[in-house]
Amino acid sequence: MQTPVTTRLIRDVLDASGRLKSGQLVAFPTETVYGLGASALNTQAIARIFEAKQRPRFDPLIVHIADVRQLSDVVCEIPAVAHQLARRFWPGPLTLVLPKRDRIPDLVTSGLPGVGVRIPDHPLALRLLKAVECPIAAPSANPFGGVSPTEAQHVLQGLSGRIDAVIDGGSCGIGLESTVVSLMRQEPVVLRLGGLPLESIEEVTGPIQVAVSDSKLSDKAQPAPGMLSRHYAPETLIVTVDSDTVITPTHPRSALLTWGPTVAGCERFTAVENLSNTGDLARCAANFFAAIRRLDAASPDVIIARKFPDQGLGRALNDRLKRASG
Ligand code: TXA
Ligand code: MG
Repeated sequence: MQTPVTTRLIRDVLDASGRLKSGQLVAFPTETVYGLGASALNTQAIARIFEAKQRPRFDPLIVHIADVRQLSDVVCEIPAVAHQLARRFWPGPLTLVLPKRDRIPDLVTSGLPGVGVRIPDHPLALRLLKAVECPIAAPSANPFGGVSPTEAQHVLQGLSGRIDAVIDGGSCGIGLESTVVSLMRQEPVVLRLGGLPLESIEEVTGPIQVAVSDSKLSDKAQPAPGMLSRHYAPETLIVTVDSDTVITPTHPRSALLTWGPTVAGCERFTAVENLSNTGDLARCAANFFAAIRRLDAASPDVIIARKFPDQGLGRALNDRLKRASG
């Protein structure tokens, strides 16, 4: 068991960078979700991330850098397509998996030969990464398997007493984790759908393969561990329904997670979250995890969730719904 620590809510980037340099764990906002940061070169600090999150060691961490010039400090091969994707989408919600340098501890990549790297598009995160002058490993700042945090308070709810500090930077703009693309083979492969739509990536790469997760495969055989079938899950059972069906309560206390114009019958639900009245998928993504938390807090018998159109961010949203209900 970890000895409890006092978790401070801080605003000063220099305070945060000093803490990271001395091996502490500091959560910080990014444009996707809050990350739980530690120096990627400090094995002890990395081990504390796994402990604080109660994360299995087979689930690798994403390394964050401030500038594309830092990429060659972390990876030893940069194919042309990596340059193209980085030029187009960094800073932004895209993680590239590339052959790692020896200086990145095996603990960071769970022993895999590739390391996931990204430049986050958030002013506080970028100032922090510049100030620490070293790559920062940061998984989402939530206990393993739970709902990702999009506000500083969400981080405290899950990890208070287990990490040293949280930088409060308000709500995350995108609200879904980064899209993960492996460039370890000849052909790029999407390992996790996320905040950068597939269609945008395909404008650079052409048609791209999406690795499918299969709950029947062993953990080792999963294309990426974040693709485990049950993940991103609240306490309450989530049941998904097709977007064109009429949604009715199935339990005495049913909650509804929906989008689009309000339809008759909503008042029969114990709690309702409409992610966007106009069905704007970017709004839906930005509100998604916080809305799930609010519905979960109402302790309903079930959360009935309306599926999203299977395009753009809708694909990543459907993926998260599937895993949350897995
Ligand atoms: O947006 C994000 O990606 C956020 C922010 C904080 O950057 N981070 C995040 O990290 O979502 P995490 O740890 O919750 O999810 C990381 C996932 C892993 O579960 C795995 O699926 C994939 O990214 N991943 C990371 N490193 C990898 C590697 N070396 N090889 C294959 N997949 C990797
Ligand atoms: Mg996560």
